[in-house]
Amino acid sequence: MILVLNGPNLNLLGRREPELYGRMTLEELEDQIEAWAAELNVAVTLRQSNYEGQLIEWIQQAEGEGFAGIVLNPAALTHYSYALLDAIAAQPLPVVEVHLTNVHAREPFRRQSVTAAAAVGQIAGLGPLGYKYALAFLTEKAR
Ligand code: DQA
Repeated sequence: MILVLNGPNLNLLGRREPELYGRMTLEELEDQIEAWAAELNVAVTLRQSNYEGQLIEWIQQAEGEGFAGIVLNPAALTHYSYALLDAIAAQPLPVVEVHLTNVHAREPFRRQSVTAAAAVGQIAGLGPLGYKYALAFLTEKAR
């Protein structure tokens, strides 16, 4: 069972800067992730929050809830949230950080991820497929 977490403003996908993030809504992205999970024969739980504290609580609770790994798009929190970094580091599950866009090809402040230091790895710039590959990795790791 894999937990997929999306952070602030990702509820606006489809409407938000579509030239960067595409026209797919969060609901469509989540449907797509569920289809990939079915192909991989793994259960997924999908959650989104605009609140740092909510994301931290979900990360803290994930092991107790029986998840084997976390796919995390921390959105803008990536670039400054030491609280999210500490939450990832404080728990044992492998976390794969995913970004829809290539954060390394955008504004300089996006090149730094403070959260990736506690993640197993980072996938950036592959659009929705990043979630698929993160899911495939965590599924294989859990088996
Ligand atoms: C993002 C990249 C972040 O820099 C940005 O703040 C987001 C989305 C991405 O998926 O490309 O909200 O995480």
